Amino acid sequence: MTTFKRLLIAATATSLALSSLTVQARDFRLGLITPPSHIWTQAANDFAQELKEKSAGQHTVSVFPAQQLGNEAQMVQQLQTGALDMAFLTIAEISNRVPDFGALYAPYLVDNIDHAAALLRSDAAIGLLDQLPAGVGMVGVGYGMGGMRQMLSREEVSSPEALQGKKLRITPFDPLRDFYNALGSAPTPLPLPGVYDALANGQVDAIDMDFDSILIFKFYERANNLLISNHMMFPMVGVVSGRVWRELSDDDKTLVRTLMKSHLDSVIDRFQQQEKSQEQELRELDIQITEADRSTFSDAINSWEAIWSRKANSLDALRQAAADVKGS
Ligand code: BEZ
Repeated sequence: MTTFKRLLIAATATSLALSSLTVQARDFRLGLITPPSHIWTQAANDFAQELKEKSAGQHTVSVFPAQQLGNEAQMVQQLQTGALDMAFLTIAEISNRVPDFGALYAPYLVDNIDHAAALLRSDAAIGLLDQLPAGVGMVGVGYGMGGMRQMLSREEVSSPEALQGKKLRITPFDPLRDFYNALGSAPTPLPLPGVYDALANGQVDAIDMDFDSILIFKFYERANNLLISNHMMFPMVGVVSGRVWRELSDDDKTLVRTLMKSHLDSVIDRFQQQEKSQEQELRELDIQITEADRSTFSDAINSWEAIWSRKANSLDALRQAAADVKGS
């Protein structure tokens, strides 16, 4: 082969490699509702950094925190059209569209944060993600989570009766609404970024929240009665738009799935690690603390079950899985 031909082949190969790089290189957009200081946003940034490193700079991820791209309902629509590539979402919006996910919010499905972590890592919970492509046009990569849910109120809540008629902020989703309706309160759907002001201006009397958010957003400044109830876990899911997923090569799918999953998993680890110390931190503040457990809410739990055992086919399987992983 002449030198000229060799040079020609080498140049063609280089240009093919370069053009395939150009075609495959992506700047993904990842949206989420939490602010930069929140563990979910930190995990999204860490995922972005690692994807850039492991793809040798070929793929980047721009992270849009704090609802910059809209609320979760709007982000879900963008994911469905492919206008948004990825998101870390509460299960709230997903459970509104695929009711089987509502089973993850069964009151007292789990006893504590470690039990929640074990359940979210079980085959039964992971199997639910298979419904996402057909149900909402997204690929569910894996679960993260927030802390266990508690109630924080402007006035003392010594029993569920004290919540009767009270405007109580909830994350906007049906399973939580049904629980608080059953308690006789007036559940008021409000996304996380509006909660501080709603408490400050008296739009709501109480909020459904986790220890981590109560501390980082200083909600205790506006409502200083904490009912430690641990009544629900709070899963989060990392998703990729189904349209975008179909465009990725098998290697890129594996890379994105592996890295995103490991950062979601580290969110679960971090919530497990900090839950007890955050409870202690709250106990040391100048706030009134009351405790409650499953028995406190038995009537509301029965009403919730009557609704959701019909809506969420996965409820029995998740309960079984919760029993199986208990103490693991
Ligand atoms: C909430 O809606 O309460 C919430 C959402 C995301 C992270 C933490 C809390």
